Amino acid sequence: KIGMVTLDPGFVNTASCSSGITYIDGDAGILRYRGYPIEQLAEHSTFLETSYLLIYGTLPTQTELDEFTDRIRRHTLLHEDLKRFFDGFPRDAHPMPVLSSAVSALSTFYQDSLNPFDDRQVEMSTIRLLAKLPTIAAYAYKKSVGQPFLYPDNSMGLVENFLRMTFGLPAEPYSPDPVLTKALDQLFILHADHEQNCSTSTVRLVGSSQANMFASISAGINALFGPLHGGANQAVLEMLDGIRHNGGDVDTFVRKVKNKEDGVKLMGFGHRVYKNYDPRAAIIKKTADEVLGKLGGDDELLGIAKALEERALSDDYFVQRKLYPNVDFYTGLIYRAMGFPTRMFTVLFALGRLPGWIAHWREMMKDPATKIGRPRQVYTGEPERAYVPASER
Ligand code: SDX
Repeated sequence: KIGMVTLDPGFVNTASCSSGITYIDGDAGILRYRGYPIEQLAEHSTFLETSYLLIYGTLPTQTELDEFTDRIRRHTLLHEDLKRFFDGFPRDAHPMPVLSSAVSALSTFYQDSLNPFDDRQVEMSTIRLLAKLPTIAAYAYKKSVGQPFLYPDNSMGLVENFLRMTFGLPAEPYSPDPVLTKALDQLFILHADHEQNCSTSTVRLVGSSQANMFASISAGINALFGPLHGGANQAVLEMLDGIRHNGGDVDTFVRKVKNKEDGVKLMGFGHRVYKNYDPRAAIIKKTADEVLGKLGGDDELLGIAKALEERALSDDYFVQRKLYPNVDFYTGLIYRAMGFPTRMFTVLFALGRLPGWIAHWREMMKDPATKIGRPRQVYTGEPERAYVPASER
């Protein structure tokens, strides 16, 4: 029994830890952050308000939210020496390893906020990460296109500032389309946490050694990079582009997936927990229709995605395996319509997931009972045997 919840013994055996942050019912397709349904947060909240909710456990009053927003605003700049890190990366570096390297390096610039048991230092790391990750992400993009970096403009909101640093140029004024800003803010809310997924479990496991927040989050960014996890949104667009290249032949592609030809998978489908439609995918699909309409997105590719979804959801192969669209199936179409290159898609996932990672790291530091224990194993190797000198082997 944990709190009011009596757990089925079978579940307890598989559960890696307990947590009071996010609740998922995979069969019913339910997702709640601190008890609030994702549908209500996506409709009424903002990314910063949801970040506050995940990290501190309650929705902020307006005064609390204003104060939180102001603290973050004052930490969006990177140390000039950290900015020089970007000179050292090759031009074609993928932005995800750039992100994890820069985040890990933050622990060398802020050695005054590494103690996981000092509340003031934990607060400083929290604010610095929420404030600086968008700047780091924008600079990783600017490096990849050989354009000058823009300093943050703290008169703007977090998401607006990120878009300006990403797409703005010193040579001309830039203010992001409000449709784009609102859609990206909502996408960040939908990615903000997701219980014990691969990257969050990585953050908790690394943090369980009392590694500092920057080091733990850097490890989570590396876990997210994997194509079966956060890298899936990039893989979905590459999959859809491939189908379009073959004349939009969805049936041939589905046949290849069912025959497991070359290990090809229907990227953006399936989930370790959801054996129903991912509630986030339903919201994102609606946003895709709205945003692509307004921003003039790739309707042909959206058409292929919808045809693929329809084809799969009417096919026993996918229905029997309970494979439904997940959070990654439609996001890439929106990101591309916003002007992001495919390689930035997983970076956007990391920006959204950051408050969840921070919330889990803080929860575990505060309450060791929520720690992921040291995993044991079932040994399947050789039985004991005596050493033999090389001359006798
Ligand atoms: C995310 O955990 C989280 O919460 C993650 C996430 C988050 O917010 O953090 O939700 C974000 O990572 C979403 C998932 C993004 N990944 C993809 O879209 C990649 C494609 N999906 C898969 O690789 C797969 O579905 C997983 C890894 C996501 C989940 O795998 P499962 O559900 O554990 O299924 P499985 O690997 O045990 O496979 C069961 C069967 C197998 O077929 P059989 O051996 O029984 O014949 O289903 C098949 C698999 O081959 N299968 C797929 C498939 N996913 C599973 N077949 C085709 N296409 C797929 N996508």
